[in-house]
Amino acid sequence: MSDRRIWSHPIISFKRGKRIFFNFEGRLVEAYEGESIIAALYAIGVATFSWSPRFKRPRGAFCMIGKCSSCLSTVNGVPNTRICVELAKEGAFIERQRGPPSMGFEGPLFNNQVEKVEAAVDLLIIGGGPAGLHAALTASVLGIKAALVDEGARLGGQLIKQTHKFFGTRDYYGGARGFEIAEKLSENIEESPNVPVYRNATAYGFFSEGVGVIVRYPKPMNIVFKPRAVIVCTGAMERGLEFENNDLPGVMGAGGAQTLMNRYGVRPGDKALVVGSGNVGLIVSYQLLQAGVKVGAVVEIAHSIGGWFVHAAKVVRLGVPIYLGHSIVRAMGSERVEEAVIQAFDGEMNPIPGTEKQFNVDLVLLAVGLMPDYTILSQAGCVMKWVSELGGLVPVRTMYLETSIPGLYVAGDAAGIEEATTAFIEGEIAAISAAEKLGYANADLLRRREKLLDFLWNEYRQAPVVERARVGKLKAIVSEEEMEEHWRRSIANGLGSPRSPHIFQ
Ligand SMILES: Cc1cc2nc3c(=O)[nH]c(=O)nc-3n(C[C@H](O)[C@H](O)[C@H](O)COP(=O)(O)OP(=O)(O)OC[C@H]3O[C@@H](n4cnc5c(N)ncnc54)[C@H](O)[C@@H]3O)c2cc1C
Ligand code: FES
Repeated sequence: MSDRRIWSHPIISFKRGKRIFFNFEGRLVEAYEGESIIAALYAIGVATFSWSPRFKRPRGAFCMIGKCSSCLSTVNGVPNTRICVELAKEGAFIERQRGPPSMGFEGPLFNNQVEKVEAAVDLLIIGGGPAGLHAALTASVLGIKAALVDEGARLGGQLIKQTHKFFGTRDYYGGARGFEIAEKLSENIEESPNVPVYRNATAYGFFSEGVGVIVRYPKPMNIVFKPRAVIVCTGAMERGLEFENNDLPGVMGAGGAQTLMNRYGVRPGDKALVVGSGNVGLIVSYQLLQAGVKVGAVVEIAHSIGGWFVHAAKVVRLGVPIYLGHSIVRAMGSERVEEAVIQAFDGEMNPIPGTEKQFNVDLVLLAVGLMPDYTILSQAGCVMKWVSELGGLVPVRTMYLETSIPGLYVAGDAAGIEEATTAFIEGEIAAISAAEKLGYANADLLRRREKLLDFLWNEYRQAPVVERARVGKLKAIVSEEEMEEHWRRSIANGLGSPRSPHIFQ
């Protein structure tokens, strides 16, 4: 039985919970309290989590944060459970699904075993990454009756898996490691008397009664929040890439691998090929080496490195070649990736015959970009716009981050892919804007918002490296007249109210 657990790491000391056991298809599997089911399964070498419906091809898990549905399994009789965010529990019964499950199950969601409660709050913050945490801390200081929900077991979003020192200004934690920032901010918000935190809690939709949030742990609950304002900070999802056999287990998002190794201390494989040389690809390559995973190469289809020189220099110094003008064209293997083939591409993105190179790897990590997680915004009925500079569909908004539904705000990567510094700032701006509508703001606070906006637009976003995001964010802001029209329509459709921001009260 393979043991992929990382027992020593140069940066992280993994605090594992109590040793427990669960039943996986008739086999007893060891896990630690606080880790996901998938982490425990990866630790013993399981990499297949579903099969294609027609040809029964084995398929792996991709995102590890509950966004892609590639790990749906039956847990204690409840089908379609995302085992990458479901925590391992003593004595649980886990089974992978082979095709669509039956609806005839006796799970807690169907037989009303889950308690349904209502909660009236002034402000609901969905997502506890950098944007949500700063929004929550602002609400806490202002004494707003708020709640923060996050579907992960720990707060911090992307930060909790970042072992590198963050770039950015000192005011926004530049020089600190991501997971340390997450720990500090989480401690601060956990102490807030007016902003209770719900972890393992997924906001699943807007309804006429309120916002539905299912809490999975420690006590299953279905909470219907009735907020007067909402800030959506749901972050981003990783992109896939087309190539032969891209569904083989072992092909996963770079962030997925980060979650396994930096969050749970489990090696995602033995040797990797990393596709994409932006900061994510370069940082993940370095983190793989720290976790004891070999890196065969980084490939980049562009003819220059996408990320910061300092990150590229680090991996090259450690002997990892970076192939520019190359991309992956094929993965090979029967049950999981065993080899990967890369090929050179010309300036018009055509593959150059005879340039293939083969790597013996069991892991192909895709670091080819992120797209905003807009699902709940779209479901709520926000007017969306395609902005390629921001990674795809984003809600249109005002300068103060209010969307086309009065009282519904957006901040961070969900508003367009940028980075943690801007997510912190946007979280605070959105919270001040919500506070203004809710009647909590004063002149000092509004001056603070102007100062933040000035810094964001006239200093931070002036740097050439963030030019693309700046252009994109400008495209997503609509004129006052256009927004007034959206609000009128939205209110006519029953979303928001003329007494804005009373969305649900
Ligand atoms: C490898 C890598 C390195 C990076 N390095 C840097 C760096 O050095 N400096 C920098 O400034 N930035 C860096 N970034 C970018 C930065 O981490 C992100 O831009 C930032 O985390 C975005 O913050 P966010 O709050 O918008 O989203 P996230 O951090 O993605 O947080 C979103 C949160 O929302 C929760 N959530 C999502 N949907 C729901 C739902 N329906 N219900 C409840 N909760 C939900 C998630 O669980 C998550 O906790 C890096 C990113 C990566 C991947
Ligand atoms: S939803 Fe579980 S791996 Fe993506």
